[in-house]
Amino acid sequence: MNNPARFRSFVADFTRLSARAGEDETLMLADGSKLLAALISHDDWLPEACAQPHPQYYQQFLLFCDSLERFSVVSFVWGPGQKTPVHDHTVWGMVGMMRGAELCRRFELSAGQPMKAGAPQRLLPGQVDRVSPHIGDIHEVANAYDDRVSLSIHVYGANIGAVKRHVYDPETGMEKPFVSGYSSTVLPNFWDRSAEVRATLEK
Ligand SMILES: [Fe+2]
Repeated sequence: MNNPARFRSFVADFTRLSARAGEDETLMLADGSKLLAALISHDDWLPEACAQPHPQYYQQFLLFCDSLERFSVVSFVWGPGQKTPVHDHTVWGMVGMMRGAELCRRFELSAGQPMKAGAPQRLLPGQVDRVSPHIGDIHEVANAYDDRVSLSIHVYGANIGAVKRHVYDPETGMEKPFVSGYSSTVLPNFWDRSAEVRATLEK
């Protein structure tokens, strides 16, 4: 992390957007995607600790949670071949690709039947995908690579690790309750600006 100011600006802009957009999800997704696309177009701000893969599980590092829990920002780190179950979010979400690539596949529920699966979509660095109960909320996400780590930055319309949501069996459409949690109990410190302030002190 050599440019924490980039993430601080993103959080400030997103906070202003949350106040402006309120419950207007269309505006939130449209303008929020632009902010996220700008953030992930530079790979110079994410702390190394929040970019570490796990040999077994994909990682979800909370980077920031709005004090009113209107939005949260999470780095997802995909080890080689790792993937999610089929799941929903219940709130709006944006997925911004920063390193490597993901394969996203959308699913539709049809009562008592196998789920309808869409074609896998490849998400490349700089691209932003969107989900929500209104535009399609059920998907499966996988690292597109079997031999390298991929990393994406996600923004959700809630404290996503603590949201009651669901995983699905695509063969039957059966759902199970799911609360994702986070992979770390600590947050990175993007807000230590003491060095730059000290540099302005008169000697
Ligand atoms: Fe997801």
